[in-house]
Amino acid sequence: MTILVTGGAGYIGSHTCLELLQAGHQVLVFDNFSNGHPEALKRIEQLAGRRLTLVRGDIRDQDAVEAALRQHGCTAVVHFAGLKAVGESVEQPLRYYDNNVVGTQRLLAAMHNCGVNTIVFSSSATVYGDPQRLPLAEDHPLSATNPYGRSKLFIEDMLRDLYRANPDWRIAILRYFNPVGAHASGRIGENPLGTPNNLMPFVAQVAIGRRDFLNVWGGDYATADGTGVRDYIHVVDLALGHLKALQRLDVPQCTEINLGTGNGYSVLEVVKAFEVASGRAVPYRVSPRRAGDVAACYADPSYAERFLGWKAQRGLADMCRDHWNWQEQNPEGYV
Ligand code: NAD
Ligand code: UD1
Repeated sequence: MTILVTGGAGYIGSHTCLELLQAGHQVLVFDNFSNGHPEALKRIEQLAGRRLTLVRGDIRDQDAVEAALRQHGCTAVVHFAGLKAVGESVEQPLRYYDNNVVGTQRLLAAMHNCGVNTIVFSSSATVYGDPQRLPLAEDHPLSATNPYGRSKLFIEDMLRDLYRANPDWRIAILRYFNPVGAHASGRIGENPLGTPNNLMPFVAQVAIGRRDFLNVWGGDYATADGTGVRDYIHVVDLALGHLKALQRLDVPQCTEINLGTGNGYSVLEVVKAFEVASGRAVPYRVSPRRAGDVAACYADPSYAERFLGWKAQRGLADMCRDHWNWQEQNPEGYV
């Protein structure tokens, strides 16, 4: 199978491309490099010992997507391309709706015109909004608390509408919890640009000495130690979930699947695990809560296990070890 991977040069896309190549698929990466790095693709090829094809392009360019699908005989799409910074989406909502929503509409139109109707989409646990009950199962009510989340919700709705009108489509909507870590080789990982908003990359930069201390956003939540609890998932487990989803798209369907571990860890538990993995101290200060944060968010991953036969294998210690390995080998990311 030749699979067109939008955003394949990014963090989750690069790990998924590697697993796809290792599983014997042909991979065509379609990326505009707005946040991805060509070096990631070189390293994927080295790790896999196989070549992939690159088309530099924007998913909003429908003609370019159609040309890529046709020229390379693609039979399925894994769609990662998107902007993902929550705070930025609040400041620049139109940019988010254009890139994520308009971009996906054009991608789907291109697929439709080319007769390609199999897609795996990167959604997020953010579509559950403020959790009303935990753990979060796929039937939890959906809502959005910021433009980034709303763009994911629009796209999910667009896919469900598309399937209603065209029940021959094969659609898997994967709702990721908090992806962290890196490939065990330390050759690919999350490329840090500017100040990280997410916890694990920030902790890694404190551990390596690029930042003095971590701000722990809130110490008064109704959790065991008062700090926020999340479901961190190793990016390689996440990548493997995409392979399973593609395998299960052998019949028409539109299905939503949580990809998480089902375990919640607090900020302080992550800090401690990272100190053990790195052998470095991670100084922190407890600061006021961050606007928009929830106390706890973790998955009920049982549907993924039943339906895909997929279960996360890597625990918090593995996530910290591999994240640290990547950070140490690539202190400035891809350069
Ligand atoms: P990333 O920024 O590392 O990768 C996204 C890739 O898409 C980049 O290579 C970028 O250059 C490319 N891209 C963006 N807009 C494009 C466009 N218009 N045309 C072509 N290429 C474009 O992000 P990631 O962490 O790998 O996330 C991948 C997807 O998963 C995103 O859709 C994101 O919203 C979703 N997601 C990520 C997380 C997370 O914490 N990382 C959590 C839940 C969901
Ligand atoms: C954030 C996004 C979410 C997105 C996810 C992707 C917000 C409100 N939510 O989720 O939409 O899908 O990233 O991974 O931005 N923390 C600190 N100090 C820091 C950074 C984080 O204490 O410097 C805490 C947070 O308060 C939270 C936990 O660490 O309790 C995880 O934070 P983060 O990595 O940003 O992820 P989410 O907030 O879960």
